[in-house]
Amino acid sequence: MKIKNICCIGAGYVGGPTMAVIAQKCPEINVTVVDINEERIKAWNDKDVENIPIYEPGLPEVVKEARDRNLFFSTNVDAAIDKADMIFISVNTPTKTYGIGKGMAADLKYIELCARQIARVSKTDKIVVEKSTLPVRTAEALKNILDNTGNGVNYQILSNPEFLAEGTAVDDLMDPDRVLIGGDIDTPAGKDAVEALVDVYAHWVPRERLLTTNVWSSELSKLTANAFLAQRVSSINAMSELCEKTGADVNEVSKAVGMDSRIGSKFLKSSVGFGGSCFQKDILNLVYISKSFGLNEVADYWEQVIIMNDHQKRRFAAKIVQTLFNTVSGKKIALLGWAFKKDTNDTRESAAIYVADYLLNEQAEIVVYDPKVKTEQVYADLDYLNSRSSEENRTRVKVVNTPYEATEGAHAVAVLTEWNEFKALDWQKVYDEMLKPAFLFDGRRLLEKETKKKIGFEFYAIGS
Ligand code: UDX
Ligand code: UDX
Repeated sequence: MKIKNICCIGAGYVGGPTMAVIAQKCPEINVTVVDINEERIKAWNDKDVENIPIYEPGLPEVVKEARDRNLFFSTNVDAAIDKADMIFISVNTPTKTYGIGKGMAADLKYIELCARQIARVSKTDKIVVEKSTLPVRTAEALKNILDNTGNGVNYQILSNPEFLAEGTAVDDLMDPDRVLIGGDIDTPAGKDAVEALVDVYAHWVPRERLLTTNVWSSELSKLTANAFLAQRVSSINAMSELCEKTGADVNEVSKAVGMDSRIGSKFLKSSVGFGGSCFQKDILNLVYISKSFGLNEVADYWEQVIIMNDHQKRRFAAKIVQTLFNTVSGKKIALLGWAFKKDTNDTRESAAIYVADYLLNEQAEIVVYDPKVKTEQVYADLDYLNSRSSEENRTRVKVVNTPYEATEGAHAVAVLTEWNEFKALDWQKVYDEMLKPAFLFDGRRLLEKETKKKIGFEFYAIGS
């Protein structure tokens, strides 16, 4: 079976870049990305490709090449489903904020809505691909809905989890370590569906990196990979606190440990805490699934990764208060960076939100600078926590357009995202324009301790 028309539901951080790369690499396949959010689709169709809604290095070029050739963005979900042989589901699956599993389980309502819509519209056989990260055995629920509410057409469900990291999405998609495709490989129809998706990726990914498994293994592998990565960050962050007490330096420890080839050097960078849309959500999900099978020890084991991460964010904010003579009330504190990591405008679960919230509770005045995050997003993130009224957030938090505006007249500056431009700042100028003593808190271990000390900052970096 050769795929001619692909539809992807969800034009977000995953759906957008993934489909753009598939379209670029497979010019004979028509790819339509649909979304219920009209603004978002409008932005994807903006004449100036620099205005697409997701900031991701290299993405504008890919979109420019494929858009209106075989890559289309639309709000007409029904039409795209109807035409497609293969439908990717790439809608968001946030942590539930209500009812059973509140604060832990993944909210699958959007997934279910997609399934019902596909069932209602489809008049020909479809391959449905789970792209969103889902709890293990979601495919079963999808199949159930499709088979019982549909028009009698046949469905194959595949799991094809996305391993791209934001900020490097295009590179990750062009040259993935592996592509995982789970399907019903024990039946001929299931095998065909898996092969059809393998053929899509084989346009640019070497066959030996295309890994096929059963559906459940594929679903669970995604959660496992994210849990392992997050665990490494929490492990090194746990050590960062011990380093501070003992005079060890976490960078040196990290290097020494990472050179052990059994351990490896990646994901050992100590930070103010991991953020992003996946790590916390996926681990909470893993914890919830484990609990629901009665596996309490397994649940507790993974939950500790989250507990450590929350501790790290709080610890960093508390350090600021403590260092500023135990009060930040009425003091101006500059936050450099709001995104959860560099090279993305995504702020979901960013440590900056929690640090700001903590400081606002201590009555600080906050000024934020981030090169790619929009002002409204900063306020939306704070409002979402519901710690105070949105008017208060707007009076107590300012968002500015240059780093120097943020730091001028500030008591303290905290680096919360590792944007390259922060390394290159004129730190002497920053220091000169701050109140003295001027405090600098480095949550990303971005800056050389020696240079900052020479300038005269009271300097704190995580883990040293
Ligand atoms: C993805 C995955 O889907 C998620 O499971 C993974 O763990 C993180 O990454 P992401 O692409 O980052 O989500 O989410 P987002 O940027 O919010 O995009 C989802 C899009 O789906 C939104 O634009 C939203 O408008 C759209 N959507 C949602 C629909 O079109 N229909 C719906 O019913 C729900
Ligand atoms: C992650 C996974 O890497 C990706 O495979 C999956 O598909 C989605 O989730 P992403 O959330 O985009 O990707 O970012 P990632 O680069 O994994 O970083 C997550 C968080 O951990 C960031 O806040 C980052 O700053 C932090 N981190 C990462 C550290 O604090 N230290 C490290 O050494 C590495």
